[in-house]
Amino acid sequence: VGEQSTISVLGFAGSLRRASWNQGLLRAAQEAAPPGIAIEVFDISDIPLYSEDIRQRGFPAVVQGFRERIRAADALLIATPEYNYSVPGVLKNAIDWASRPPDQPFHDKPIALMGASAGTFGTTRAQHHLRQSFVYLDGRLLARPEVLIPGAAQKFDADGNLTDAPTRKLIAELIAALAAWTRRLKCVPPA
Ligand SMILES: Cc1cc2nc3c(=O)[nH]c(=O)nc-3n(C[C@H](O)[C@H](O)[C@H](O)COP(=O)(O)O)c2cc1C
Repeated sequence: VGEQSTISVLGFAGSLRRASWNQGLLRAAQEAAPPGIAIEVFDISDIPLYSEDIRQRGFPAVVQGFRERIRAADALLIATPEYNYSVPGVLKNAIDWASRPPDQPFHDKPIALMGASAGTFGTTRAQHHLRQSFVYLDGRLLARPEVLIPGAAQKFDADGNLTDAPTRKLIAELIAALAAWTRRLKCVPPA
């Protein structure tokens, strides 16, 4: 990523629900992205359950595509719900597939997290567990701002669109911070 060039961000969400709040967060991030930051969303719903036997025969095409999209992106943006105080299985499964050698694509990748949940802690525990996985994978996780959205039922409409203005502002701050973090990790002076 050059000083003037567009930063490409790949987003994905840990919910397959049609009206998912967390997919809504990714749409809000796309809407909040300023010129110079392009956010594309990858749908993880076609990724099969991980099996080492399948991997031994070669990555399924959808996994191969996911790995290539991650590798090509300058940064990642992950929106996750919290399931039973942790990372939803579908998201962990997608990351597990993508993380397998050779050339696991999370190495040195700038990554930002956000999450919306029904409960009062706004995915705090899920995000913490996700950070632990990326320690092993050498991901470069952005620390702040923390986007932990509790009580999400009051902040999204029935189609999963974010309606809460303070949360939209926070997401815009996250995108700006992720862009600065990405430039810094690539040793490019701030725009
Ligand atoms: C299996 C399961 C476990 C859940 N566990 C939690 C939890 O630990 N904390 C929480 O705040 N919400 C929990 N919830 C509620 C989620 O916050 C809620 O389903 C939310 O809508 C998920 O995000 P989504 O709208 O992106 O699908 C759980 C939901 C499911 C289905």
